Amino acid sequence: MNKIRAAITGVGGYVPDYILTNKELESMVDTNDEWITTRTGIKERRILKGENQGVSVMGIAAVKDMLAKTKIDPKEIDLIIFATVTADMTFPATANIVATAVGATNAFSYDLGAACSGFLFGLTTGASFIQSGMYKKVVVVGGDKMSAILDYTDRTTCIIFGDGAGCVLLEPTTEEVGVMDSILKSDGNGESYLHMKAGGSRQPATRESVDKRMHFVYQEGSAVFKFAVTNMADVAAQVAERNHLTAKNIQWLVPHQANKRIIDATASRVGITEDKVMMNIARYGNTTAGTIPLLLWDYEKQLKKGDNLILAAFGGGFTWGAIYLKWAYNPR
Ligand code: UT7
Repeated sequence: MNKIRAAITGVGGYVPDYILTNKELESMVDTNDEWITTRTGIKERRILKGENQGVSVMGIAAVKDMLAKTKIDPKEIDLIIFATVTADMTFPATANIVATAVGATNAFSYDLGAACSGFLFGLTTGASFIQSGMYKKVVVVGGDKMSAILDYTDRTTCIIFGDGAGCVLLEPTTEEVGVMDSILKSDGNGESYLHMKAGGSRQPATRESVDKRMHFVYQEGSAVFKFAVTNMADVAAQVAERNHLTAKNIQWLVPHQANKRIIDATASRVGITEDKVMMNIARYGNTTAGTIPLLLWDYEKQLKKGDNLILAAFGGGFTWGAIYLKWAYNPR
């Protein structure tokens, strides 16, 4: 009997309407379009505005988009995994909120926290449930409302991140397509370089923690940059090499969108030219767990059955990883 693989059989996405441009950021902090563009590749990012609008709003819209395109009955979904670091609330899981809102009444659901690598961790986890034969329909969502945890007086972080969410549907196949291989890594030493100081159980919210602006992203950018360049490129090259993939037979590199310079370094390490690198960082910035599913959403119509994709990410934790994915369908 042929091995069961987990194929991506549908993609959905959502970005909010509000566009925060580099120009507008110039009026908020001491920065300029030229610095942001040359140092990061970002021109604009989307922001979810409005009262009581959590990341679930974007996750629900992304899953509904996928349901409309694949025409599957949400009652058939067995599991929803939501990768995010900006859950609506500490509990319950945002995945539960999404499952109920989209009518996935037979699914169980949970959140997964691996920061910018969250979607890759979720994809590998979801694929394992399919490959084991346990479940037939798994939805993996990746998304973040980074604007909720950004200090818009800190020019080193507020220019980088944006809001957005994407998702994929995983189903079993016995064809040679789907999630083929995966390397995932974490290193707790990364904590000091990229974290949010308060709001967790170590330092719950207090008047003082708010006054000291401890509920925002803290990042030592250039240190994170060095780890990201090395580790994301290494792991992408490793997964390619052990599957005998070279620039000739890789159709797409799908890199986490943190900084165009990190993307370029990863592409150059794998020997891939820019025309084969998925990129939307200029329009959305870094949406943390949202970047990779949003790339698949943006490029879906250009993907053909059998295309070899290398997905790669690096983020807070530290966490990083790469997945070899063989695309399972032609444009619909
Ligand atoms: O996705 C999760 C993982 N995160 C990442 O992968 C992010 C990795 N890091 C980066 O992308 C980059 O380090 C940043 C984009 C965050 C910063 O770029 P950089 O080239 O590493 O700049 P830097 O931090 O070394 O700062 C260089 C200079 C500093 O000024 P001085 O000390 O040289 O006078 C900063 O104060 O640029 C200054 N600077 C800015 N200037 C204008 C920092 N932010 C800004 C800004 N506008 N927004």
